[in-house]
Amino acid sequence: MTQHMPVIISSENGRGGMLAAMHLLREGGSALDAVEIACRYVEDDPTDHSVGYGGLPNVLGDVELDASIMDGRTLSAGAVAAVMGYGRAIRLARQVMEQTPHVLLAARGAERLAAELGESPQDQRTDEALARWRERFTERSVDLDEQVPLRAIAAQLTQPLNLQDKLYKAGRVDTLGTVNFIARDQQGNLASAVSTSGIGWKYPGRVGDSPLIGAGNYCDNRYGAAGCTGMGELAIRVSTARSLVLYLKMGMSLLDAGLEALRDLQVLDARTGQYMNIVAMTPDGAHAGFTTVAGKQYLYMTGAMNAPQLAERTLLPG
Ligand code: GLY
Repeated sequence: MTQHMPVIISSENGRGGMLAAMHLLREGGSALDAVEIACRYVEDDPTDHSVGYGGLPNVLGDVELDASIMDGRTLSAGAVAAVMGYGRAIRLARQVMEQTPHVLLAARGAERLAAELGESPQDQRTDEALARWRERFTERSVDLDEQVPLRAIAAQLTQPLNLQDKLYKAGRVDTLGTVNFIARDQQGNLASAVSTSGIGWKYPGRVGDSPLIGAGNYCDNRYGAAGCTGMGELAIRVSTARSLVLYLKMGMSLLDAGLEALRDLQVLDARTGQYMNIVAMTPDGAHAGFTTVAGKQYLYMTGAMNAPQLAERTLLPG
């Protein structure tokens, strides 16, 4: 049987997970195991405030996690949304795929499954993330006041970023963050995984694109895979990940498929700070990143490389 060169790509925050996953891929491990291990690494990292343990809380100060995983060999998929009290959302997503007849379990149901499978509950809030959560109330002069509807408070705290804001330039007021991975193993199988705590200060129960198969994650061995990071509401509305893979199926090159997915996003009324990034891979291991805003990168690593490398994401021309 042909042995393929392993390849893995991710969002910029995936470096540690990528190294762990590549070790497994080099040993002949599956793409599915590789993307799960990679996500778990980032989920366990308390310094990543967009994923898993230490993720940014919602407007009430609770960390709610979303994740999904997809197997390009079988098109099997599993996902969880708005999970509280369990950090490894990607593991839970895989359990939904493998232990239930369902694709997506939300909130109480996902938490019940976690308990049933013997996962230990753990408070996902770190002191650092909670301090950041509080700080934003001060920065925006907002209080949790029972007289003001929660939706108004959440809207103010998550409002689009002012790109001229000094804090934004210092990288301190970004409410968005997610990690995604796409891997090809030595058998040539593709798998994809996405994990996130969603938008910081979001309304409780808000679900982004990451656990929605077709929006933030899609993988098909025959045509390719795509995963999104950024403002989930955009990818949900135009089914970004599945669209890109469908464009590949219809015969477009990887570059053209990515640009077409960006054109789909361009018609939306995205405001300042509401960006979308896509990573994509074809069955031959070719990969690319796309973005709606300048200056975004993604990581890639093949079995022949010692370390992950950054590559520029492509913008729509003009
Ligand atoms: N892309 C992650 C989210 O919007 O929740």
